[in-house]
Amino acid sequence: MDKFLIEGNGPLTGEVAASGAKNAALPILCASLLTDDELRLSNVPDLHDVVTTKKLLAQMGVAVASPGPGLFAATARGITTCVAPYELVKTMRASILVLGPLLAKRGHAEVSLPGGCAIGARPVDLHLMGLKAMGAEITLEDGFIKARATRLKGARIYFDTVTVTGTENLLMAAVLADGETVLENAAREPEIVDLANCLTAMGAKISGAGTGTIVVQGVRDLHGADHRVIPDRIEGGTFLVAAAITRGRVRLTKTDPNALDAVIVKLQQAGAKVATGADWIDVDMRHQRPHSVNLHTMAHPGFPTDMQAQFMALDCYADGVGTIRETIFENRFMHAQELLRLGADIRIEGNTAIVTGREKLKGAPVMATDLRASAALVLAAIAAEGTTKIDRVYHIDRGYEHIEEKLGALGARIARVKD
Ligand code: UD1
Repeated sequence: MDKFLIEGNGPLTGEVAASGAKNAALPILCASLLTDDELRLSNVPDLHDVVTTKKLLAQMGVAVASPGPGLFAATARGITTCVAPYELVKTMRASILVLGPLLAKRGHAEVSLPGGCAIGARPVDLHLMGLKAMGAEITLEDGFIKARATRLKGARIYFDTVTVTGTENLLMAAVLADGETVLENAAREPEIVDLANCLTAMGAKISGAGTGTIVVQGVRDLHGADHRVIPDRIEGGTFLVAAAITRGRVRLTKTDPNALDAVIVKLQQAGAKVATGADWIDVDMRHQRPHSVNLHTMAHPGFPTDMQAQFMALDCYADGVGTIRETIFENRFMHAQELLRLGADIRIEGNTAIVTGREKLKGAPVMATDLRASAALVLAAIAAEGTTKIDRVYHIDRGYEHIEEKLGALGARIARVKD
């Protein structure tokens, strides 16, 4: 199993480009199930979750090719089965994103129930509620969601909790449904907009993506398209925190600064000088210790839960006391236990972490527990004194493309080792 050996050292400086967004690429890869024609994508990140999605599609009989770096082509015409097996779903919850497209295009789907997850219960009840409202018959049998429909019917669907993949699943179901679908209290993440743009390029009729109300006029068929995946705002945000936590200066390129507003505001509150251009963000924290920041996570455009752990790492080094409240997922503070091993001062009270900053933390063996928690450990380790060994970095590989190379190019001493 791979591990990272990280030698804490001085400020990170330089330029790093954002990769394609994992959370946009995954639903868009699944959108290839909605047409018999070829869907061609670029800027697809080289990540373990992308490999898992390709495997999931390939085992259904989708012709999948990666004709070059970042490129992906899929044709679902020869699909042989509409089953997403447990072996793949258990490693990646986002596998649930095949449910909507399979049901809409093929009239049936069997997707293993995702089951428990390190960061909380994460049910899929809202996905199922929406599909039922569109006329699907859904049963839970032998650990599988079994869904059937002749042709889905447009419906008015209200989400009582904002759900990202739930919105995406129902959006993909609605594009081929009979009539109009209205998704109320829909998620507004940039990744939803990217999916909607790709679906529109495939011939779908969608308005309101990026707002709380998405309206879809169903069409009979979609066709192939070319689409470029948006930059990863969470990966990019992680590099910006790397600059701040090491008191360095980093320019993030090939990004969309608008998608990172909530993160930029918090970096400014921490004392960083932030400059932005059309597709870059420059964070400068040289010669100063970051100030503590308070934050609470919210659905977009609020502060993203996927950046919470990284800012907790920053608060561990900051001047003052920071309060971090997690409102999206229960049990998303596992990184706190590991940060304590480096000497951090964190007190957890329910869904709130109270972090008293320390001038220095010291390297220690730690364990990656989930994707973003692992990123927080990498950040804490590059700013710590001495060596940190991070076990189970497969969590990081699910969502960060070549993170050791990218941080290494900024001056971090980070090596991948096997034992
Ligand atoms: C997506 C992201 C993940 C991010 C999260 C929140 C992908 C592949 N993953 O996950 O990185 O952390 O959004 O921004 O895009 N809920 C229900 N019932 C449902 C669905 C969700 O109660 O049917 C609840 C969840 O338990 C959670 C909240 O809604 O408390 C938000 O979850 P959701 O937005 O669905 O997260 P994901 O789409 O799984």
